[in-house]
Amino acid sequence: MRRSASFFQVLLVFTTMAGTRWPNVSGTYCKDMSSSVYRPHSVTITEFGAVGDGVTLNTKAFQNAIFYLNSFADKGGAQLFVPAGRWLTGSFSLISHLTLSLDKDAVIIGSPDSSHWPVIDPLPSYGRGRELPGNRHRSLIFGSNLTDVIITGANGTIDGQGAIWWGWFHNHTLNYTRPHLVELMYSTNVVISNLTFKNSPFWNIHPVYCSWDSDTVHKIDSSTNVCIDHCYVRTGDDSIVIKSGWDEYGISFAHPSSNISISNITGENQGGAGIAFGSEMSGGISEVRAEGLRIVNSLHGIRIKTAPGRGGYVKNVYIADVSMDNVSMAIRITGNYGEHPDDKYDRNALPMISNITIKDVVGINIGVAGILEGIQGDNFSSICLTNVSLTVQSPHPWNCSLIQGYSNSVVPESCEQLRSNCEQTPVCYDGSSYSEMRTQAPTHKLNSSRLLNPLLKLATL
Ligand SMILES: *[C@@H]1O[C@H](CO)[C@@H](O)[C@H](O)[C@H]1NC(C)=O
Ligand SMILES: *[C@@H]1O[C@H](CO)[C@@H](O)[C@H](O)[C@H]1NC(C)=O
Ligand SMILES: *[C@@H]1O[C@H](CO)[C@@H](O)[C@H](O)[C@H]1NC(C)=O
Ligand SMILES: *[C@@H]1O[C@H](CO)[C@@H](O)[C@H](O)[C@H]1NC(C)=O
Ligand SMILES: *[C@@H]1O[C@H](CO)[C@@H](O)[C@H](O)[C@H]1NC(C)=O
Ligand SMILES: *[C@@H]1O[C@H](CO)[C@@H](O)[C@H](O)[C@H]1NC(C)=O
Ligand SMILES: *[C@@H]1O[C@H](CO)[C@@H](O)[C@H](O)[C@H]1NC(C)=O
Ligand SMILES: *[C@@H]1O[C@H](CO)[C@@H](O)[C@H](O)[C@H]1NC(C)=O
Ligand SMILES: *[C@@H]1O[C@H](CO)[C@@H](O)[C@H](O)[C@H]1NC(C)=O
Ligand SMILES: *[C@@H]1O[C@H](CO)[C@@H](O)[C@H](O)[C@H]1NC(C)=O
Ligand SMILES: *[C@@H]1O[C@H](CO)[C@@H](O)[C@H](O)[C@H]1NC(C)=O
Ligand SMILES: *[C@@H]1O[C@H](CO)[C@@H](O)[C@H](O)[C@H]1NC(C)=O
Repeated sequence: MRRSASFFQVLLVFTTMAGTRWPNVSGTYCKDMSSSVYRPHSVTITEFGAVGDGVTLNTKAFQNAIFYLNSFADKGGAQLFVPAGRWLTGSFSLISHLTLSLDKDAVIIGSPDSSHWPVIDPLPSYGRGRELPGNRHRSLIFGSNLTDVIITGANGTIDGQGAIWWGWFHNHTLNYTRPHLVELMYSTNVVISNLTFKNSPFWNIHPVYCSWDSDTVHKIDSSTNVCIDHCYVRTGDDSIVIKSGWDEYGISFAHPSSNISISNITGENQGGAGIAFGSEMSGGISEVRAEGLRIVNSLHGIRIKTAPGRGGYVKNVYIADVSMDNVSMAIRITGNYGEHPDDKYDRNALPMISNITIKDVVGINIGVAGILEGIQGDNFSSICLTNVSLTVQSPHPWNCSLIQGYSNSVVPESCEQLRSNCEQTPVCYDGSSYSEMRTQAPTHKLNSSRLLNPLLKLATL
């Protein structure tokens, strides 16, 4: 079941994490991702005629203010301040070297008129709109090919008023795929922090094709060097999702998601998972390290979704220090997750799922410990469970097929498929490949701005 209400407070950084190291202690991630960049120029949205009465449409005010601030891009950039009030607007686009800063009592509200959300091209890695063939509506706050962008506030709010979009979705009267709340394409050095995002029409925060060493950066979708820290996420779907394109389009576009750091996340997702991979993962997902996850009142805890036709890979994933309470399925790996963009996908394009380590997990009020299913002719390998202790209601806590791997100190005892190799030296991915790479990386601080972004597919599907 999908819900329109979603809510999260967020600190997301898409950015250059060069110089960042994987600390051994959770909670110290992303420390150098401060969003305190001084902007010599600042304007307030009211200077451009905006009215914060919740009724006046302010799209032009936002566009005009940002157009004006463009002239300061080469002078240290500028800040657009949104004071207390309810600021109704349609979709608007950001520019580079911009800070969008909200007062604690400022609420940016999405217009309920779909014509205020222009229609743009589909993402190349999806080949079409996610929900409907063809184009898609542009997000409320949008940016493409940007660098040095900060979206912040003293816990101000961005409210997409998505209920009407969910209504159109449910009664099949959409003409195009729904818009996200925030989408940044091909961008670097982005920090999203100290804000509450709610009622997205579709996904919440969607960085796509973002990174620091190419001209791109973040749902974390085909994005690299992403840090998501200190977030509370409540959605009808998954809290944090990592994706990288859909079937043949994702395979040919070939933009992986990698180097992703996630820490200190609380997720509550009636219809989804605390952390999920896929199902669109055709460009590949690797080097993901997530620590300090609290997953409560959710359908799934940790989830990997894929299917024949996806191709690509999910590998070198390290998830540790997880607590769960009231979760129907603690760990779920699904090899037959359907949904294809069209019938041109290659049924022989099998995904490679390998080197998935899940350790130090404590769960209470768990329905089923794990359903782990690979694909016929395509076993998922090196699935490692260590120090996992779950209080499970089901008499059949684990159900595994077509997977191989290892387990150690798992209660209730893990499935046989994860026990059969105990004579070999377990080779569990320990998260260190990223760490080593990080340590070797040159310490190169671009500027102090960081994109804090929960990959946010932060998607409420
Ligand atoms: C978020 O707000 C807190 C409290 O005002 C502040 O200390 C912190 O630097 C802010 N973080 C970011 C990334 O803006
Ligand atoms: C944005 O960047 C992408 C990838 O580099 C490029 O293909 C596209 O043309 C750029 N768009 C604009 C408007 O510059
Ligand atoms: C931020 O706002 C939300 C509601 O919009 C509230 O639940 C939360 O407690 C606030 N957080 C802080 C740190 O003020
Ligand atoms: C579909 O949902 C929208 C939004 O809730 C509503 O305005 C519209 O009347 C509905 N249309 C039909 C045909 O049910
Ligand atoms: C879909 O298109 C029709 C015809 O142009 C229009 O009346 C309707 O409002 C559109 N629906 C949405 C949700 O934008
Ligand atoms: C975790 O994030 C929450 C906000 O969601 C913050 O209040 C808390 O201080 C963080 N804890 C650590 C250990 O960083
Ligand atoms: C457990 O989580 C479900 C949502 O998955 C929620 O409806 C239910 O109220 C929760 N139970 C308790 C005791 O909190
Ligand atoms: C097992 O995991 C729990 C929960 O994260 C942790 O408190 C405990 O120290 C771990 N035990 C070992 C031996 O690592
Ligand atoms: C395990 O799952 C398979 C389907 O994947 C099902 O047929 C079987 O009954 C399940 N076994 C148990 C014990 O639940
Ligand atoms: C696939 O894994 C199963 C255990 O889940 C194992 O019995 C089977 O031999 C494996 N197949 C291959 C080709 O490795
Ligand atoms: C899995 O991790 C090990 C190290 O833990 C590494 O040697 C191996 O290359 C990894 N496998 C893949 C497919 O990346
Ligand atoms: C991931 O991080 C490592 C170490 O910083 C770096 O060498 C590598 O290029 C990064 N990968 C991508 C795709 O940015």
